[in-house]
Amino acid sequence: MNVRSELLATLAAAEGSYISGAALADKLGVSRNAVWKAVRALEADGFSITSVTSKGYKLNEDNNKLSAALILPLLKTKELGRTLNVYDTVESTNNITKELDSNSAPNGTTTVADQQTAGRGRIGRSFVSPSGSGLYMSTLVRPKFSLEYAPMITAAAACAAAEAVEHLCGENVMIKWVNDLYMNGKKICGILTEASFGLEMRTLDCAVIGIGINVRSVKDIFDEELLKTASSIEDETGKIINRNKLCAEVLNRLENYMGRIENRTFIEEYRRREYLTGNMVTANIGNKTIVGEALGIDDNANLIVCTPDGEKIHLNSGEASLCRIVR
Ligand code: BTN
Repeated sequence: MNVRSELLATLAAAEGSYISGAALADKLGVSRNAVWKAVRALEADGFSITSVTSKGYKLNEDNNKLSAALILPLLKTKELGRTLNVYDTVESTNNITKELDSNSAPNGTTTVADQQTAGRGRIGRSFVSPSGSGLYMSTLVRPKFSLEYAPMITAAAACAAAEAVEHLCGENVMIKWVNDLYMNGKKICGILTEASFGLEMRTLDCAVIGIGINVRSVKDIFDEELLKTASSIEDETGKIINRNKLCAEVLNRLENYMGRIENRTFIEEYRRREYLTGNMVTANIGNKTIVGEALGIDDNANLIVCTPDGEKIHLNSGEASLCRIVR
């Protein structure tokens, strides 16, 4: 780590307390003038730091700048996020991470960005990813399990993200099958998993799990149409979550949930949080739309829908939404 990163990590570890210039100089093994210069450079980079002559320096709670130096010390993982690249602006963190794969990036390599200019969602949709408001992250995983488990990666990732958000904001987070996190009936997070298969499609080479979480208020950013269905943690709870902490919490939990796919122990957690269960839903299967009651989630994380003629359909892809009652 260079002086700037070390200084940042030290200020973050102090959790909002002041550290004197002398103590920082001592810890980092540089002069007080070098500390001062590094603080100025961090401020110029967008970090929010308060300097008080008699007390020293502190990293402000409202610091909203993403940084590897602030995420890495919070990781409890063996592999996930240990290779971490944080960018200001990218087209799509999934694209960047998929490109890395050809160079044999290690399991858990993660790309994080403050902003995406071409954020992608499922079914060819875009994912609006403005600067300063969301957490956009993609993690490359090389699971050792067989191909039949691959479709469950997204569901396990949804559990990890839901748990992380809930842990930091203290409010209930639901999962709408298959990949959306919901708060108060609105989407606050989407997940796009893109897999790359081995020859003859018999093995899973790797998968890129892309997670986009709307953290800060989007009320003045998203257009009227999008605001009908989408929201953010801040808009739903009034709480401002630190994006660096959220990123680390997601990675810590994602590593745990990746280990709970083969034995299917994540399914109980997924079922507990599932939003559509017990409601009338419409679902798209290919070009067909069906209506029925969502009975729950089966052992492969498929949504079970019971049609009016009593047929139980296990959906393994596509999309389902609550039926709207038209009066
Ligand atoms: C969806 O809602 O359909 C899925 C949205 C997934 C968005 C995330 S943001 C990080 C990663 N990069 C992308 O381009 N997409 C995913």
